[in-house]
Amino acid sequence: MNRADAGSTPDPIRIGVLYSRSGVTSAAETTQLQATLLAIEEINRAGGVLGREVEPVCLDPQCQPRRYAELAEQLILENRVRLIVGCYMSSTRKAVIPIVERHNALLFYATPYEGFEYSRNVIYTGAAPNQNTLPLAGFMLTHYGSRVSMIGSDYVCPYESNRVMSDLILERGGEKVDETYLPLDARWENYLDAAKRIKERRPDFIFSTVVGEGIPLLYRAFAHVGLDPYKMPIASHMTSEAEIAIMGHDVAEGHITSAAYFQSVDTPANRGAVARYQASFGEDQTTNMCWEAAYFQMHLLADAIRRVGSGDPTLLLRVLPGLEFDAPQGRVRIDEHNNHTYLHPLIGRVDSHGRFEVIGRAPERVKADPYVVSHSTPTWTSVSRPDLLHAGVER
Ligand code: ACM
Repeated sequence: MNRADAGSTPDPIRIGVLYSRSGVTSAAETTQLQATLLAIEEINRAGGVLGREVEPVCLDPQCQPRRYAELAEQLILENRVRLIVGCYMSSTRKAVIPIVERHNALLFYATPYEGFEYSRNVIYTGAAPNQNTLPLAGFMLTHYGSRVSMIGSDYVCPYESNRVMSDLILERGGEKVDETYLPLDARWENYLDAAKRIKERRPDFIFSTVVGEGIPLLYRAFAHVGLDPYKMPIASHMTSEAEIAIMGHDVAEGHITSAAYFQSVDTPANRGAVARYQASFGEDQTTNMCWEAAYFQMHLLADAIRRVGSGDPTLLLRVLPGLEFDAPQGRVRIDEHNNHTYLHPLIGRVDSHGRFEVIGRAPERVKADPYVVSHSTPTWTSVSRPDLLHAGVER
């Protein structure tokens, strides 16, 4: 029963929210939680969905894959919620997929990932490898060189992302000079050792798939051993404003990230969303690629519920493919065939204020190719201001 008796308030539409507030990737996940709450606040302020309020049921899985699975099952069986947003590390998404598939629930996943996956019960709103690793490879090979050192956290997303990057580099005659994986709980000394080794190997750039708390440690270690980001940058598709806020602008300046969204993106939708976010959560809050996908996916979900007049996942899956939304990054669209999202890939370099200056952009939005069928690095990795590329401050 969705509606109470005439005259009383209709039952809310409940959404399960699985983002961690403690643990290794909690800085970015906290922004995803807040983005979800912001979107829900906006939806409810505009009258809710089908005259019903949207009510988040927020649980904290503390970055433990097993806890995501347990809490997903709890949401479905105890809270009777079959629409879930959440997960960050791919290990957590992979833990939840069997649960949502078994119960025909729907997971909305708002984090860039390694690809090579499809579940009918997942809508992927973060970037697939052809929307982050490919543009980054094309950009770095063109502007920095083809000797790459790879460093990642020790789990599936870094392994797969590095495999794709390796293929792209080796196909083009480049060289992988080093490949290192550090545990999720690695310490400063581990990152310092890695930075010293990178310094000895002298690659043209570093491809980092380090996540969470390791990111500030890596970038600080890089600075500590005296490496210059304007000459040998760290290139990543995970490092965002969330981790820059922790490591500090001085450490982040000059490094490069590939993403479909930066806080600095200049669209009316972004200016409005950032202003409303800071009004609700604090003027000091920054946004990032994971925040943005969490925000727009909640609006897409609400729109889908309106269209089918129900929160039933089977009915929603009939309208979600092809659905579009004016997101902060630009207009996004859920693909008709693969449940991933057409996005607007960008290359950004951190400036002296800790903001991303966009130095490369796709001329049009890009369809997700999660299985990386095409290896062609696109022509859309053009630099808007090539004169500024190596124009950093002397260190
Ligand atoms: C990730 O594991 N998808 C960051």
